[in-house]
Amino acid sequence: MKKEDIIVLPDLRLRQKSSRVHIVTDETLSLIDDMNSAAIDWEDSRPHEISAALAAVQIGRMERVVTVRSELEDKSVREFTALINPQIVKYEGEIISDYEGCLSVSGVYGKVPRYSKIRVKALDIDGNEVRFKAEGFLARVIQHEIDHTNGVVFIDHIRDDKKAFYKLDEKGELQPVDYAKYIENNSILW
Ligand code: NI
Repeated sequence: MKKEDIIVLPDLRLRQKSSRVHIVTDETLSLIDDMNSAAIDWEDSRPHEISAALAAVQIGRMERVVTVRSELEDKSVREFTALINPQIVKYEGEIISDYEGCLSVSGVYGKVPRYSKIRVKALDIDGNEVRFKAEGFLARVIQHEIDHTNGVVFIDHIRDDKKAFYKLDEKGELQPVDYAKYIENNSILW
């Protein structure tokens, strides 16, 4: 799939809950391949950004499937790890605000509060249950993706925070956005 297959706000599907996957089938695996190819195609069109992860809803498939980049710090590693029916079983650590973007939210980044550590339960691509701990940026990414499976987008967490919105400048650096102007021009996103 291509970057054009990624849906963006105000597409209402991004506000809907996805369904659990009952059995992992070849169709699930082909969905994951489609998600990964769309994410990589998007990244190839962006000099300063990485496709850290994607949820199935972002290509219009309402299933609880997410894929997370296997090496979040190294763009040259183009592999993803799929999590099926991912669930946070415990929140730990502290709540930290840091930068986040989303392939389905064009042109804006946010400083979003998230737990610094989580424990996660999911199925892997063989249908086996996996449980693991995540912290730091990986914990942030997984919380963002599980939100997608519940119809929540990162901007929903910061809509009342006037200092939380940023955009990338031409050098790839994040600069604060004029909140009043942003809300006015993007009212359709809320
Ligand atoms: Ni996203």
